[in-house]
Parts: sequence; C-alpha cells; structure tokens
Amino acid sequence: MNETIFRLVSALLPALAALLLSACSPASDDTPPLQGASIGGPFTLTGQDGGQVRDTDFAGQYRLVYFGYTYCPDVCPVDLQLIGQALRKLEKSDPDTAARIQPIFISVDPARDTPAVLKEYVAAFHPRLIGLTGSPEQIADVAKRYGVYSQKDEPTVPKDYLVDHSRVVLLFGPGGEPISIVPHDKGVDAIAAELERWVK
Ligand code: NI
Repeated sequence: MNETIFRLVSALLPALAALLLSACSPASDDTPPLQGASIGGPFTLTGQDGGQVRDTDFAGQYRLVYFGYTYCPDVCPVDLQLIGQALRKLEKSDPDTAARIQPIFISVDPARDTPAVLKEYVAAFHPRLIGLTGSPEQIADVAKRYGVYSQKDEPTVPKDYLVDHSRVVLLFGPGGEPISIVPHDKGVDAIAAELERWVK
C-alpha cells in the first residue's frame, strides 16, 4: 500500500467504521462523510505576510485546504485553478455561502516557499486564497495530521527538485471539524456543488 493511501485510510478509519455501522440503520444525508475522522486539528504556521497563523484564526469559517508547492510543474496549478473557479462560480450563484469559505494552500516545500513567494503565487488563483508555510518540522507535523503525504525526489541539480505529494482537497467546518474530501477531479461544478452541500 503506498504511503499516501495508507495515511488517508488511517485517518479515515473512524469515518469508515461509522459508515459501516450506519449502513444498518437508515442513512442520513446530513452526515458529513468525514464526521469523526481523526484528520485535521490545530496548527501554527507562517502566513504569506510573514506573521504567525493559527487554525483558530479561521474560527467561524469553513476551510478548504489543499497541500502543494509553488514549484509544482502541473498538478498544483491545475488543482488550484479548479478551486479558484469553483469559488468564483459560487460567488456568483450564492455569495453568502462563498464568503463563509476560506481557501488555504499549505506548502509542502517550505525551503523554497517563503511567504513572499507564496503570496505572489496564490494571488494568481483566487483573491482570497491564502498561502501558509513554516519550518520543516511544522510542515511535517501539519501534513501528518491532515493525512497528507509528501516526498522530495533526489535532484541532479541541488535546488531543482520535485516534491511528490497527495492530491486531496479537504473541507473543514467552522470549528475545524472534518467534513468531506472535495471531488476536485470531477471538475468545477462538482467542487461548487460539494461546497454548496455542506457550507451552511
Ligand atoms: Ni503539486
């Protein structure tokens, strides 16, 4: 089993167990798929303006969280573009709901993703997308608790490396509780629909 899947499965076990149990009784459509999953939680990181940012700074906001890095050649730009487009779509159709969502990009490459680099990068995808970085230890800690895998490759040129990483968009509630894995691979409309479904 590869590490990405293993981490996700471990983090999602409680939710899977709940799902199996609930299969015996009438399922409720109102139960978030990740309810009770041990994924997410507190963090202290560095924001794109250089100051400390904590999970509690987003109290009351739904958080749409994606891990990646600004040097990512193709995966991150594609995914962030989808997230940005879905938010714009929601801003048009349901601005109140859209305003309750804070999109967050957390770097898995803190050595190169300084606050200034992140700030310029995230602005290209959505005006409210914020970039977070931190020390290698802080990033490793938050990635682990959010079920995200990342692994630097062995570069031929020292600073010219790639980082393999999980490709998952997570939605958390106003208290930081996990809600769902957003099906970003299904496109803009599916992302917007998923947000509309859970964000109250
Ligand atoms: Ni990437």
